[in-house]
Amino acid sequence: MAKNGTIFVCAECGATSPRWLGRCPACGKFNTMAEEAVKDEKPAAAKARGGLYSAPRAQRLTSVKFERYDRTPSGISEFDTVLGGGIVSGSLVLLGGDPGIGKSTLLTQIAAHLSLEHRVLYFSAEESCSQVKMRAERLNLESEDFLIVNDTCIDNLESELDGVEFCIIDSIQAVYTDDLTSSAGSVGQVRECATKLMRIAKSRGITFFVVGHVTKEGALAGPKVLEHIMDTVLYFEGENQENYRILRAVKNRFGNVSEVGVFEMTDRGIIAVTDYSGIFLSESRGQEAGCAVTPAQTGNRCMNVEIQTLISRTSFGQPRRMPLGVDYNKLVLLLAVLEKRCSLPFCSHDVYINVMGGIKLNEPACDLALCAALASAHRDIPIDKYTAVFGEVGLTGEVRAVSYAEKRVQECVKMGFRRVILPAKNMKSVAKYADRINIVPVLYVNSMIKTLFGKGDGGGETH
Ligand SMILES: Nc1ncnc2c1ncn2[C@@H]1O[C@H](COP(=O)(O)OP(=O)(O)OP(=O)(O)O)[C@@H](O)[C@H]1O
Ligand SMILES: [Mg+2]
Repeated sequence: MAKNGTIFVCAECGATSPRWLGRCPACGKFNTMAEEAVKDEKPAAAKARGGLYSAPRAQRLTSVKFERYDRTPSGISEFDTVLGGGIVSGSLVLLGGDPGIGKSTLLTQIAAHLSLEHRVLYFSAEESCSQVKMRAERLNLESEDFLIVNDTCIDNLESELDGVEFCIIDSIQAVYTDDLTSSAGSVGQVRECATKLMRIAKSRGITFFVVGHVTKEGALAGPKVLEHIMDTVLYFEGENQENYRILRAVKNRFGNVSEVGVFEMTDRGIIAVTDYSGIFLSESRGQEAGCAVTPAQTGNRCMNVEIQTLISRTSFGQPRRMPLGVDYNKLVLLLAVLEKRCSLPFCSHDVYINVMGGIKLNEPACDLALCAALASAHRDIPIDKYTAVFGEVGLTGEVRAVSYAEKRVQECVKMGFRRVILPAKNMKSVAKYADRINIVPVLYVNSMIKTLFGKGDGGGETH
């Protein structure tokens, strides 16, 4: 039973209960209810909340004055593209990402650029002022009206905001409000702090960039309500060791969520990559077995990405499956298809997969290229350097049509590829490129393997 003044809050969905429950009744997750100490809401906070909802008066939709959103360029073109054309004043932007991926670096760069014409406040709860200054010096950033404060109590923020147009909170998990007694980063605190930011943003027209941590599974840490409160939710992804980063919008009230931005992490900071063709391909492709190229659609961009595989004989026990950049379950499924439909057994082989540039391929259109790379590794025959492959693979071994086929073929033509293997059902839409690239339509995975490695070997069912 909870003590007086404490409640149990679900870490997944934020549902509350007066007593401990093994399973959250709201989201159904087990073992997520944690005890939190709460104080009664302060009258001032309650009044402020009331004020937010009671002020507007109902009016006809036709008489509502149309508000144009002012957009301010951030100084990084790719970032503006992801936001839908620039920063909207008075909006709340959440930037999530793995530790060390470069969230603070990106926002420091943006803050410095904005400070040349606007007043910017960097509310640093994780790093000291001198750490932020060190970073700015290292990146050689020019700044003008760049204010910085090192504090963790969000209640002190409002008094610092005079004349400020843009504010960066680094990070939402490190700040707390005095209204609650639970520790910083807890579900209640994150929710309460985000609500306070929303109130300030909407009432004073200040734009907030909020850094958010992600959980081990890659979702934003904290309650789902955090994402609901925000106008825009961005994810910064990529492997830490790799230089390339992808910025993806998962929610945007002022733009399209299909936009992605490609960035490179350099010693001069994060720079936007505008010519991204060829950056996810290796120099040595075509020489070693186990590599295949696929035109992958990320957001609304199409990029040729190389998938590399390595197989080695399992020396002991169960074979290992280690996919980097592709889903584990997808790999296991495709290995089963290759074994059953194409007579390529992997049961005594360890399989390692790596997607170049540390990007994540999670669209079904990459299935066929993954099969091609695996088959190439199994046969120990390299795939021709100028061949690209795409298509979705079904459990029966059939190759299904995919979306954006035309765009993918176009990208292959642009990159100088000479042959593209694709689903037969996509043939109609891409037939017009036949004079510029050799288009090979396939119905089954087996036919793709025969196209790549010649007829006669491999056996299995022929389709
Ligand atoms: N002195 C340095 N020289 C070059 N690169 C550096 C240097 N210091 C840090 N970096 C790069 O910056 C990255 C860290 O960036 P940053 O602190 O912005 O990440 P973050 O996402 O804010 O991390 P956290 O979640 O810990 O706050 C490092 O992974 C490293 O690649
Ligand atoms: Mg940081």
